[in-house]
Amino acid sequence: MRPGVVVTIVVCAAVLLVPAVAVALPSMPSSLFETSAGCGCHAALLEQWRGTMHEQALTDPLYLYKLEEALAATDGALGPYCNGCHSPIAVMAGELAGMDQSKVSAAGMEGVTCTYCHFMTGTSEPPGNTSGTVADDGVKRAQLKDPEAPHPADYSAFHETAEFCGSCHDVYHPINGLLLEATYTEWKAGPYAAQGIVCQDCHMTPGPGVTKPYPGKAAAGGPDREHIYQMTFVGGNVGLGKADLAEERLKAAAELTLDVPEIVESGDVALTTTITNVGAGHYLPTGLTEFREMWLEVTAVDASGTELLSERRYFVTKLEDAEGNAPVELWDAVAIHSDDRIPPRESTSNEYSFAMTGDAVTVTAALYYRSCTEEVARKAGVEIPTTTMAEVTRTVYSSPAAQVAGEEPSEPSGEGAGGAGGLPAWASVLIVIGAIALLAGAYLLVRRKPTGA
Ligand code: HEC
Ligand code: HEC
Ligand code: HEC
Ligand code: HEC
Repeated sequence: MRPGVVVTIVVCAAVLLVPAVAVALPSMPSSLFETSAGCGCHAALLEQWRGTMHEQALTDPLYLYKLEEALAATDGALGPYCNGCHSPIAVMAGELAGMDQSKVSAAGMEGVTCTYCHFMTGTSEPPGNTSGTVADDGVKRAQLKDPEAPHPADYSAFHETAEFCGSCHDVYHPINGLLLEATYTEWKAGPYAAQGIVCQDCHMTPGPGVTKPYPGKAAAGGPDREHIYQMTFVGGNVGLGKADLAEERLKAAAELTLDVPEIVESGDVALTTTITNVGAGHYLPTGLTEFREMWLEVTAVDASGTELLSERRYFVTKLEDAEGNAPVELWDAVAIHSDDRIPPRESTSNEYSFAMTGDAVTVTAALYYRSCTEEVARKAGVEIPTTTMAEVTRTVYSSPAAQVAGEEPSEPSGEGAGGAGGLPAWASVLIVIGAIALLAGAYLLVRRKPTGA
């Protein structure tokens, strides 16, 4: 038997044996699904969705790069599995098996598009691997209790739940059922679920954190509403998604502190860094964490520029294969080898030390994020920037006198202290405005005198 046939049979058998992890998509023609162009009445929402990773899910160069690898490794068997989440419409319509997108309809090319989400009615349990159920009645469902639409529309409590998102944001291995990407499960086990804060509250609202209520209209000509959601679905994809929104999200996710003594005459300087996941409703990072990169970099540099300490710690999930090798590709995984990411509202600390030299040593701790490694970005032909999520700098002096000398020109170094020394920015602005007003007043007085007299 050819290996491809073996894999296919194994996949089919596993789907039968482990129904909970099956790719549950029904068969449906793509003609049932309008493209986003048909949703023009929701101009603002359409604009928000354009450029999201949901829109790009099937055309994303990083996805296609990885899909090609997955297909090569399994003789094509993984095609419907991968494509099922990245373009459910194309897979339901039987238009897409592997890399060849020539038969994919316009709606299918839109990846995770408006009509797929708004035709959803529920999910089988547990959510994951496209467990969403989809109706073919053309009724668009969302959280509005009194939709006033020119098309069939209905209220759906399901759209207000994390399970809605979890139907794709929990990824199980198609054969052995290992939970490979667990954003929904991480959320469910964490403090946000207990408080009733769902994915939509953070990812479909204007800013980082829970920015509700956000009043507005769901459609042009529709009624004013106390709160409407946005179709932005912002995460950490600075390179391919909306860069400024993603950066803002990443910078709001973690708090970083650096504890180090201010004065150490000689010998070893001990320091502690602590990262707290303050903003993400799931682990930090989450999702495809064998592919993403988040790392802490700690350096100490003395006045002469000599590096006394330079350490990197990565926060990743490593997958393990049947022989115990790690890290391996997700299709080879049978177990999680290690996972040192940070759960929601939890912290992780690290200790470092270096030998004191000279009068002053600058210590910096910085937390960085990249959507993928430089090597993968290069191979996929995309530019993926590194984002600084948080950064703290401190100076260690050899004596109180050195500290005074070192701090003379500017203010003491503070955590994320903004603005140059002296006055805060708003005070300077006030002074400038005041000065302009005074000058204008004086000018008017001077001009009036001759005419008034
Ligand atoms: C990934 C799934 C998904 C996609 C893609 C998506 N939506 Fe939504 N949409 C939702 C969910 C979920 C809600 C309700 C959120 C809640 O109640 O918590 C919603 C709410 C809405 C609403 C109700 C008003 C509001 O803003 O709250 C409208 C109208 C809407 N979406 C239109 C659109 C349009 C148009 C598109 C495409 C341009 C789109 N949606 C894409 C999931 C999606
Ligand atoms: C049909 C499956 C599906 C559903 C339902 C779905 N997503 Fe996604 N989502 C995806 C896929 C696939 C990607 C990755 C696309 C890519 O990067 O190529 C993604 C990416 C994302 C990202 C990452 C964006 C970034 O910048 O990295 C966020 C955030 C997100 N989804 C939030 C949500 C939320 C919130 C919901 C529920 C309202 C939801 N998704 C429902 C499939 C889905
Ligand atoms: C309390 C707010 C909050 C909640 C609740 C929340 N998230 Fe997030 N999410 C964030 C922040 C902040 C980030 C950016 C940091 C990161 O990448 O983890 C993020 C990142 C993401 C990403 C991108 C991960 C990456 O690195 O590519 C996805 C996908 C995502 N969230 C999906 C979800 C889903 C699905 C849910 C619900 C099950 C959810 N989020 C609940 C705040 C939240
Ligand atoms: C159950 C749904 C699901 C399945 C099946 C799935 N994905 Fe994804 N994929 C997602 C979600 C959700 C994200 C976004 C998660 C995040 O941002 O961390 C994603 C993101 C990605 C990304 C990152 C894209 C980027 O721009 O950063 C790649 C690459 C990827 N998937 C490849 C694959 C491959 C290859 C397969 C098949 C082996 C696959 N996916 C199967 C849901 C799925």
